[in-house]
Amino acid sequence: MSIEGAGQHELKTQRLSPIHAEACHQLDRLCRPRGWDLRQWHLDLEAQDIEGPGRCVLGVLRGSELVAVASGWLILDELQILLVLVHPAQRRIGLARMVLSELMREGQERGASGATLEVAASNTAALGLYGSLGFRSTGRRRGYYRDGQDALIQWCQLQGTTG
Ligand SMILES: CC(C)(COP(=O)(O)OP(=O)(O)OC[C@H]1O[C@@H](n2cnc3c(N)ncnc32)[C@H](O)[C@@H]1OP(=O)(O)O)[C@@H](O)C(=O)NCCC(=O)NCCS
Repeated sequence: MSIEGAGQHELKTQRLSPIHAEACHQLDRLCRPRGWDLRQWHLDLEAQDIEGPGRCVLGVLRGSELVAVASGWLILDELQILLVLVHPAQRRIGLARMVLSELMREGQERGASGATLEVAASNTAALGLYGSLGFRSTGRRRGYYRDGQDALIQWCQLQGTTG
């Protein structure tokens, strides 16, 4: 998939490995006030080797720069999406939709019939993104986040929606 936008290099989506932990951590620091520390990123990326192909961290590279990440986990027939991050200077050009669609496609290929995630009720950008991919709110976890915010549980039926 080719997307025009910030930067001149071509975009490439690929599975990430522990060598990308530092780049993921740097991206996370730009994207979230309380993201994962470097150790958590190492653990997340190493989990793919330990837990097999159902555990998947995908990245989008523009040249050698990591500009987007999506992480997910296949539990039985359900793809649990842990996060999606896009570099602040590269937003609104479709990178999140691109990397998340690919994660959902891979999940579906490995047997997922649905995808789920939790998102802060105030995160309008993420809610817009998930809505554009077919997710709907199916529940609310009150006071789920450390700052007291509620989480909205999102669900998307995968069969027939991707691939
Ligand atoms: C949420 C986030 C991943 C979106 O990344 P992005 O690459 O800008 O999103 P895309 O360009 O793929 O947008 C896809 C759709 O999402 C919606 N969307 C994205 N940003 C939006 C915004 N700021 N406001 C409203 N809708 C938005 C739109 O429907 C958009 O489609 P459109 O551009 O055709 O209207 C990005 O803002 C981000 O990294 N935020 C910080 C981290 C975060 O909150 N992650 C989610 C929870 S882990």
